[in-house]
Amino acid sequence: SSGKSASPVLLAIDQGTTSTRSLLFDVKGRRIAAAQRELAQYYPRDGWVEQELEDIWRDALGAAREVMSQAAAPVAALGIANQRETVAIWDRATGTPIHRAIVWQDRRTAADCEALRAGGAEDLVRSRTGLLLDPYFSATKIAWILDHVPGARQRAERGELAFGTIDAFLLWRLTGGATHATDATNASRTLLFDIHRQRWDEDLLDLFRVPAALLPGVCDSSGLFGVTAKGLFPVQIPITGMAGDQQAALIGQACFTPGLVKSTYGTGCFALLNTGHEPAPPRKGLLTTVAYRIDGVPAYAVEGAIFAAGAAVKWLRDGLGLIKNAADTARMAASVETNLGVYMVPAFVGLGAPHWDPAARGLICGLTLDATGAHIARAALESVAYQTLDLMEAITACGPLSGPQALRVDGGMASNDWFCQFLADILDAPVERPAMLETTALGAAYLAGMSSGVFSDFKTIGAAWSANRRFEPQFTPKSRAALIEGWRRAVRRAAGDAP
Ligand code: G3P
Repeated sequence: SSGKSASPVLLAIDQGTTSTRSLLFDVKGRRIAAAQRELAQYYPRDGWVEQELEDIWRDALGAAREVMSQAAAPVAALGIANQRETVAIWDRATGTPIHRAIVWQDRRTAADCEALRAGGAEDLVRSRTGLLLDPYFSATKIAWILDHVPGARQRAERGELAFGTIDAFLLWRLTGGATHATDATNASRTLLFDIHRQRWDEDLLDLFRVPAALLPGVCDSSGLFGVTAKGLFPVQIPITGMAGDQQAALIGQACFTPGLVKSTYGTGCFALLNTGHEPAPPRKGLLTTVAYRIDGVPAYAVEGAIFAAGAAVKWLRDGLGLIKNAADTARMAASVETNLGVYMVPAFVGLGAPHWDPAARGLICGLTLDATGAHIARAALESVAYQTLDLMEAITACGPLSGPQALRVDGGMASNDWFCQFLADILDAPVERPAMLETTALGAAYLAGMSSGVFSDFKTIGAAWSANRRFEPQFTPKSRAALIEGWRRAVRRAAGDAP
């Protein structure tokens, strides 16, 4: 058949921290095919987290090829969503990375951030980037690689090397080295990008000692980034959408109007509130970030970021050997009547919002002889809900922002009914779960589809959003307060400077 009558499909790559996924969507945003690869993590020292960039490339290409082979209709465009902040530096001539990727969770530059803060740099950083001086973001990791790989700094200054977050790295590889670009959402996570002027900032480049010659061009989130190199896929595909995964999820959740908020449960948990076309002034413990940029016009979000959500469940499986798969936790948590006073603070790589304490470390406390594995599994799920509460309290304390009515959740843990119910109970607010849980990939497909004429605008996309389940809060104020009090005590004990 000529395939002429078939409406086109959209290809998405969702390169996350622990896995790489590729999905095909039809023009109604329905999922047609999916493929997934787990990504190996390296923990060379306490607080260090690395990944092999060749693994990331192999997985992204492999997964995309796998779903492409199931496409019965022409693929109109490709969109990319990615784990943010993670640093890749490669040789422009050969495309070869000069170091493993340093992952967003990596804390090796905590002391560098501390020194910059002591030097009084935080105000500048905060006002230009909307971020904080924390090792979470890219800039100090870029400098670390330049300072530790022999010759790298000189080569960077000579323009021989390229930096990118994972979107830019994949784009470079997909276009056969033709395009070195990132989108405004990813740029806004580097600590080098002025979110008001929408450009790399000279003062910040000086402060973090990052040569301008390393940097990619910054584009809108939706637009033509390039075309896949010949031979990668049966046909060459235009790459027309790119965004950091949390921003892509905001789009997949159709949070296009100021006041709408979503919370995504992947490796970490990230709550983003759309604040419209003006960046919100810096608010305690929260980030101001680019939500998306379309036709040159940025929209902004306030973000609360926590580093361990799914990571806590993954640790139950891989670290403790307590469960076989993530879904076991719902059954185990439901099998015990209370948490028995057992709390887990999953500060494996420190604490993010609203604490921002890179020296905090994880703990399980309140153990008695009648505590079981089920209590620990429950404590892990509960910890993610309490952390979300901390985020939402910080976000709703933001004065003029309209408080969110219901929280839209997505990501792997959102499929866990016990977790969603407990989350609604602890937030004392309804939690809405969309029919389509792959909102990150969907958001990337939407961005790609908008600039390739498949989707007309945000309105059509928003109309396609629907909840498949709404969880209503059920706790009494007293039991809720007691649980929260126990969590707050546990968090104090996990602090980096706890006695
Ligand atoms: O900022 C890090 C974030 O983008 C990672 O997302 O989905 O891999 O937890 P995820």
